[in-house]
Amino acid sequence: MKHVFITGAAGFIGSHICDLLLKKGYAVSGIDNFITGSKKNLAEALKNKNFQFLEWDTCEPIPEKKFKFFKKHKLFGVFHFACPASPVDFAKIPFEILAVDSLGTMRTVDLAMKYKARYIVASTSEIYGDPLEHPQKEDYWGNVNTIGPRACYDETKRFAEAYVSTAARGVMKGNKVGKQLNARIVRIFNTYGPRMRPNDGRVVPELLVQAMSGKPLTVHGEGKQTRSFCYVSDLVDGIVRLFESDFKQPCNIGNPTENTILEFAQAVNKAVGSSSPIQHLPAREDDPRRRCPDITRAKTHLGWSPKVGLDEGLRHTLEDFKKQLKVK
Ligand SMILES: NC(=O)c1ccc[n+]([C@@H]2O[C@H](COP(=O)([O-])OP(=O)(O)OC[C@H]3O[C@@H](n4cnc5c(N)ncnc54)[C@H](O)[C@@H]3O)[C@@H](O)[C@H]2O)c1
Repeated sequence: MKHVFITGAAGFIGSHICDLLLKKGYAVSGIDNFITGSKKNLAEALKNKNFQFLEWDTCEPIPEKKFKFFKKHKLFGVFHFACPASPVDFAKIPFEILAVDSLGTMRTVDLAMKYKARYIVASTSEIYGDPLEHPQKEDYWGNVNTIGPRACYDETKRFAEAYVSTAARGVMKGNKVGKQLNARIVRIFNTYGPRMRPNDGRVVPELLVQAMSGKPLTVHGEGKQTRSFCYVSDLVDGIVRLFESDFKQPCNIGNPTENTILEFAQAVNKAVGSSSPIQHLPAREDDPRRRCPDITRAKTHLGWSPKVGLDEGLRHTLEDFKKQLKVK
């Protein structure tokens, strides 16, 4: 059996990855410290005998001995997906974010190197900052404010990419290149779907919950800034394809259908059947104006493109939120 280790297993994306890997026949060992995740997200995975979970901080040494699958199957792969990702968290827990994508990346890379395992790190469209090129291709280097309120996230993700790509290149030992990490870097664009926290502060849950409770939909700035929203089942399909492929360049995974936030607010009203008015709030500092992935690499090398449109994805997310919030 192929055994993989995943950090952030109880998070929104991490838990969907666990479910897909288990469905594909992997044995999965997962850790999470629940800083933004929840054990409820693992309800399906925990029923599976090929899954083992431990509450653990990724910044601590990885406790391989506590997991049964390490003895049985060694280690085939590592998914490093632990990291709070909401702009609200950038103000509340910035040092935890800085730690998990620096120290946590180093710990998980060490683990993968020890077992000569494949490695994939969750990077983000935020490494492009407020992009000056559009749509964003992977060879664009970005426009990031290193000292702004988003820097704890954007810059630590850039550090993670630098660390992982350095380990993949290998360090010279005399005339020879030393050990090389078998690495993949996925740059994830805005993703939404079931298991997001309704109070998470990201735009999808924020507007959905406001519409569900008949409150005005709050839009930062004029609402002309764009985002491209990818449904979670499409995203995790792309991530697992990248992990299983031999493609080793950074790869955008996201939905290239671009919407302004105002258009998105209308789609939310339509999904909920509400007619909440828009309430404009001050623009967020350093908020990117345009965000849209170029997915040529994913299409060409992984045969991947998203399948779920915004209306369908919002319907599924709404159903999940009704359950989470116990609303009919
Ligand atoms: N959702 C998106 O739109 C999006 C976009 C770009 C990148 N990403 C990246 O994808 C990954 C998952 O994001 P998500 O949206 O599922 O967020 P999430 O907050 O739902 O998941 C992150 C998980 O990591 C856990 N975690 C955080 N720090 C930890 C630590 N030190 N030790 C152990 N567990 C820890 C949290 O408890 C949580 O369960 C993150 O790396 C994030 O940066 C997400």
